[in-house]
Amino acid sequence: MQNKTFNIAIDGPAGAGKSTIARMVAEKLGFVYVDTGAMYRAIALYLLRTGVNPEDPDAVSEAVRDAQITIRYQDGVQRVLLNGEDVSGLIRTEQVGNTASAVSVYPPVRAHLLDLQRRLAASADVLMDGRDIGTCILPDADTKIFLTASPHVRALRRYKELAEKGAACNLDKIEQDIMERDERDRNREIAPLREAPDAVVLDSSEMTIAQVVQAILDAAVAHGLPKERIREGGVE
Ligand code: DC
Repeated sequence: MQNKTFNIAIDGPAGAGKSTIARMVAEKLGFVYVDTGAMYRAIALYLLRTGVNPEDPDAVSEAVRDAQITIRYQDGVQRVLLNGEDVSGLIRTEQVGNTASAVSVYPPVRAHLLDLQRRLAASADVLMDGRDIGTCILPDADTKIFLTASPHVRALRRYKELAEKGAACNLDKIEQDIMERDERDRNREIAPLREAPDAVVLDSSEMTIAQVVQAILDAAVAHGLPKERIREGGVE
């Protein structure tokens, strides 16, 4: 039997704070943080670059075969490579995010990333975030978290994030995009965004980051993670 790794799955809608929180929890535990959204974004970037119409399922399914996605860790930080090129800095735009959401509904796109995600989880203790990690990718994850927040709070967070980067943005438009993205992610036929029956549901609208991190650590301990694995040091 293969050595069992401890896997924590964090699913939830766009802007719920998954990546910030997941990164912090991973650091507290010395786990590898796997951001699966970045993989879908890298595929989206490939399609945008090659001019493939995201609304054409056949063209997308065909093109995706030529988009080789790999993950590297540099100083503990995930880098995503598209056909060998580090595209981590290029995938954080709203356009790429919306295209990722649109094309992630196609089964061949999801199938293209499934093995990579499962291999990563089998090779190390991971904290993996996405939309379908607890339900599809790692149905046997040791701990499953469904992290959500109201659309307004999520839009505000994304707005601040973009404003900090100096990007031009409009709060109403962001909120509308978030609701559209939720609708699509929740209602797609394959691997919809949905809480696993055994997930711990956390609504972070009124919680601080430190409270959410603590709630996830508590859930992991409740599911068998030895308390000693939690490193000293606070979360600011
Ligand atoms: O988490 P994110 O915003 O980086 O993800 C971008 C899009 O990728 C998201 O709207 C839906 C898709 N996605 C997915 O379908 N399944 C995942 N596990 C992660 C992301």
